[in-house]
Amino acid sequence: MEIKEINSRYSELAESDCCLSCGGAIDYAKPQPGEVCIDLGSGRGTDVIRMAEIVGEYGFVYGIDVAEGMLVKARQNAEKFEIFNVRFIKSDLEKILLPDGSADLIISNCTLNHASDKQAVWNEVFRLLKTGGRFVISDIYAIEPIPEEYRSDPVAIAECWAGAVTRNEYFEHLANAGFSTIEIIEESAPYVKGKSNVASITIAGKKSNGCSCCH
Ligand SMILES: C[S@@+](CC[C@H](N)C(=O)[O-])C[C@H]1O[C@@H](n2cnc3c(N)ncnc32)[C@H](O)[C@@H]1O
Repeated sequence: MEIKEINSRYSELAESDCCLSCGGAIDYAKPQPGEVCIDLGSGRGTDVIRMAEIVGEYGFVYGIDVAEGMLVKARQNAEKFEIFNVRFIKSDLEKILLPDGSADLIISNCTLNHASDKQAVWNEVFRLLKTGGRFVISDIYAIEPIPEEYRSDPVAIAECWAGAVTRNEYFEHLANAGFSTIEIIEESAPYVKGKSNVASITIAGKKSNGCSCCH
């Protein structure tokens, strides 16, 4: 989907009361005081603000989003709650403007299915984590491959189904990025969303130091 289309679609939603989320990654992620965290697709900033309160003055939280309207709303919300250990960055998830090894924790709620190059996003998750860092991501996968006619439909993608890949593709992307052990925290039964069957999943993983020795 064109960045321009994501921008206008989500900027409108920034001012609505509609619930954007499909999962609760933050509840499983358990941020700790002093940690640096990143939220991919931070929307109105709700999870960033919650994490910022937990990590405290020695920690820091980055929210990444491409939609200007969402970023404006998120910054207003942070200001309203007097949260200063946060920064909202306008960036595409495929190429995030932060250095390697920036984060102890990366979370994301219902966003990765929107990205056009999901392998690139997972590569970024791996690159941005410190060694020993962890992620908790909730997302949607498609039970069968989404027909081509919907895959490039911006409205259908923004409805959180047409951009979804199959479960096998999902785990291939994770493995290709370098994650060797993945924990499935929650996985729903298939359900209908838009014109497809999808399932919701919350997964966790760690960037290991590559050592398979046992001491
Ligand atoms: C369904 S909303 C979820 C927002 C938030 N995580 C929540 O749970 O409330 C998806 C968010 O991801 C952002 N987004 C979608 N595709 C993106 C991309 N390729 N790069 C960066 N942000 C993206 C949208 O602008 C939107 O704010």
